[in-house]
Amino acid sequence: QMIIVVTPTYKRLTRIADMIRMANTLSHVKNLHWIVIEDGNKKIPAVENILKRTNLPYTYLPFKTIEGYPKRGWYQRTMALKFIRSNTSQILGKEHKEGVVYFGDDDNSYDIRLFTEYIRNVKTLGIWAVGLVGGGYVEAPKVVNGTVPEFNVGYLPSRTFAVDMAGFAVNLRVVMNSTAVFGLHCKERYAPETCLLEDMGLERKDIEPFGWEGEKDREILVWHTKTSTPNFPKAEKNATKPAPPPETYGY
Ligand code: UGA
Ligand code: MN
Repeated sequence: QMIIVVTPTYKRLTRIADMIRMANTLSHVKNLHWIVIEDGNKKIPAVENILKRTNLPYTYLPFKTIEGYPKRGWYQRTMALKFIRSNTSQILGKEHKEGVVYFGDDDNSYDIRLFTEYIRNVKTLGIWAVGLVGGGYVEAPKVVNGTVPEFNVGYLPSRTFAVDMAGFAVNLRVVMNSTAVFGLHCKERYAPETCLLEDMGLERKDIEPFGWEGEKDREILVWHTKTSTPNFPKAEKNATKPAPPPETYGY
């Protein structure tokens, strides 16, 4: 089945570096459609060039965060969900009838096997461990005989789905059978992830855990990394100043 990866992105010093890293990973995955939503008024050529060079089928659209939405990709993922629902056959192409939707932020670190071994096999709701998130080494579902009775997480383990954005994927069928998005009401809920999944009508018993059952299965395939911004004011004190980056770099 087709993997649909949804990535919000926005202009900042490290964006091109982050996007190249992610593009280099995704370009190894077959049958993947990359939906990238620019948090801005227009598309950025440097970003589109990265997408073209992956040779993946992709969609690149600008939707600047509107008033009231948190500036953390919520509005971009919402618009992507609407796009998926109204352009499903175009995204799937002729060869595919089924798909999986994954929200992959542009600054995380992805093992290729996350896509080929986990996401590709999600029938309803797949959940797995995420490294370097929630103030700890790892957040993971507690897996008991293939079920998830609870979550091993630092922040609010009582959430129905105590998982970071990078730690789950939903089958396209679930997306198509609901109108759920990352709505403003999610601001009053505990986290956008559990808000969306609950709004999609999912329950804990729907979870298909990947990995993390038993001692031998403790591999992490995605990390919630954050690229640090270089301190330019400090660099300016140096005798030789680097040339400012051309605008086309998309910084
Ligand atoms: C964490 C989660 O990993 C996010 O998936 C979640 O949306 C967010 O918390 C939340 O609580 O709402 P974090 O790593 O702290 O995210 O945030 P960023 O990586 O800075 O942003 C998430 C995504 O939104 C990224 O793809 C980023 O490029 C995008 N973004 C961020 C925008 O499109 N616009 C912005 O102004 C900021
Ligand atoms: Mn992030």
